[in-house]
Amino acid sequence: MVLVLGIESSCDDACAAVVRDGHEVLAEVTASQAEAMSAWGGVVPELAARGHLDAFPGVVVEALARSGVAIDEVDGIAVTAFPGLGGSLLAGITCAKVLAARRRIPLLAVDHIAAHLAAVHLGRVEVSYPFLGLVASGGHSHYYLARGPGDLDLLGGTIDDAAGEAFDKAAAMLGLGYPGGPLIDALAAQGDPRAFILPRSLLDEDSARLSFSGLKTALLYRLKGSQGHAATMLDARGLADACASFQAAVVDVLAIKLLRLAAVHGLETIAIGGGVACNRGLRTRLADECAKRGLRLLAPEPRHCADNAAMVAALGTHLLAAGRIAGHDLVPLPSSRAGPRARRHDP
Ligand code: KG4
Ligand code: ZN
Repeated sequence: MVLVLGIESSCDDACAAVVRDGHEVLAEVTASQAEAMSAWGGVVPELAARGHLDAFPGVVVEALARSGVAIDEVDGIAVTAFPGLGGSLLAGITCAKVLAARRRIPLLAVDHIAAHLAAVHLGRVEVSYPFLGLVASGGHSHYYLARGPGDLDLLGGTIDDAAGEAFDKAAAMLGLGYPGGPLIDALAAQGDPRAFILPRSLLDEDSARLSFSGLKTALLYRLKGSQGHAATMLDARGLADACASFQAAVVDVLAIKLLRLAAVHGLETIAIGGGVACNRGLRTRLADECAKRGLRLLAPEPRHCADNAAMVAALGTHLLAAGRIAGHDLVPLPSSRAGPRARRHDP
């Protein structure tokens, strides 16, 4: 039996979890700052970092207590090391380093993006690799060929906004709150996805490239008027239609490209991760398409698609098994080895 404590603080959530054997979640605790951040219309890095100082080590103590696991029984401490907001990462990393050094427990440096795809292990004893993975979050929207846990080849992704960022900006234009994704998702269920004609950028391109800035601008022109459109006054029905139409455009490109890439690479399993993978439109669409094509869909529970520490512990378990232990000189790094920029660090 392997017990790993996971710690995640790359953005505005402070999370801790205890995971057994890389798949069984014994306990997980999240201190969310979403409500505080909604007053600012987005995440304010300095405030998020300060909030984490309040949350740690409390969330860790609570996760251990709920799991019934004593700190000295833990085989490894996995912490998100990159990418993320510097101050936020520092809070989680410092907590993990202090615990690891004090108790002589191996420290495991986890790539947040790779962890989003490692979430497919939670609640599943066997995961068959390789698969085609999509990570779609507030800061990231990319496709990967996953050969094993944390072993990812980047195929391509957004050339401008991330999908979650597009949801958040569209929600702001529509006068909804933050984070926008869940709010648009809820309203979209009552709207007509064909009411607004919105672009599906780069859909004809047989590549893994995505773009959401044109879609955002098209929605803005529909709302404010321009490019031949008069300004649109939205009543409740119109708001639901705008949400449904916007969501349908994002889901179309994410899903069609994901399925096309799986076919190109001859893969029969696809996986999704990141906050946007909570989206009900995306989940339903992929479930239907996969059923039609005989593909296997790995869609973690919504709470394990959004930022969480269980996914960090799951990937940390594999790093521990591979003997990839981080030094106590670990510092937050801005890049992700799985991300769009070149790999700069091997912890
Ligand atoms: O993975 P995540 O929790 O944090 C990052 O690593 O960025 O993703 C957060 C993003 C936000 O942009 C949020 O609006 C979006 O995921 N999101 C959703 C949904 N739930 C969260 N987008 C669409 N539909 C949802 N149901
Ligand atoms: Zn994330």
